[in-house]
Amino acid sequence: SLLKDENVVWHPHAVTRADREKQHGHRGAVLWFTGLSGSGKSTVAGALEQALHAQGVSTYLLDGDNVRHGLCRDLGFTDDDRRENIRRVGEVAKLMVDAGQVVLTAFISPHRAERDMVRDLLEDGQFIEVFVDTPLAICEARDPKGLYKKARAGELKNFTGIDSEYQPPETPDVHLDGEQLVTHLVPQLLDVMRQRAIIK
Ligand code: PPS
Repeated sequence: SLLKDENVVWHPHAVTRADREKQHGHRGAVLWFTGLSGSGKSTVAGALEQALHAQGVSTYLLDGDNVRHGLCRDLGFTDDDRRENIRRVGEVAKLMVDAGQVVLTAFISPHRAERDMVRDLLEDGQFIEVFVDTPLAICEARDPKGLYKKARAGELKNFTGIDSEYQPPETPDVHLDGEQLVTHLVPQLLDVMRQRAIIK
């Protein structure tokens, strides 16, 4: 068993996810945004959340910059730390899906293995991988936090796309052109969510 203590047993609850989904009027799911730093993950996820919220959908946005101030404050950017970051976020997202929420996550999540690990944590159809595909040169030109500049100067080590690998999804559920305006991207995501019967 993967459990540290085999005396811990799973406790089923009287109110189920299906009950909560019925009350909310939509299903629980994760839209997992992945892409380089500065690709627009948080911006697109934030705009999608606004649109969903306006339609009465119960949402929550988990964002790397925020989670790393609390739940993952002890983690840095080595491969091991990124893996643990994504594992924790995946488990939190799973709980929130069980709570019947539409969870939007905005993490670089550079490794395929970790994204697949999260997909495996969830049930079929609950995990939607969204690749925010923005060329490195564009992300670097945007450089909203000045981190690419620091990485190029050698002042910041293990920076994704510079001296740390980003593995683009091979078959993402949604492939977004990160150079397009969010007003163009959000309707694409809403369409996919309707097609997959997550929302009405
Ligand atoms: S990961 O790889 O999924 O664990 O990363 P994530 O939790 O999304 O955190 C990415 C944000 O942290 C800032 N930052 C770095 N990114 C990449 N590499 C290094 N070394 C690094 N150091 C700090 C950066 O601002 C990322 O924010 P975004 O929003 O992606 O630009």
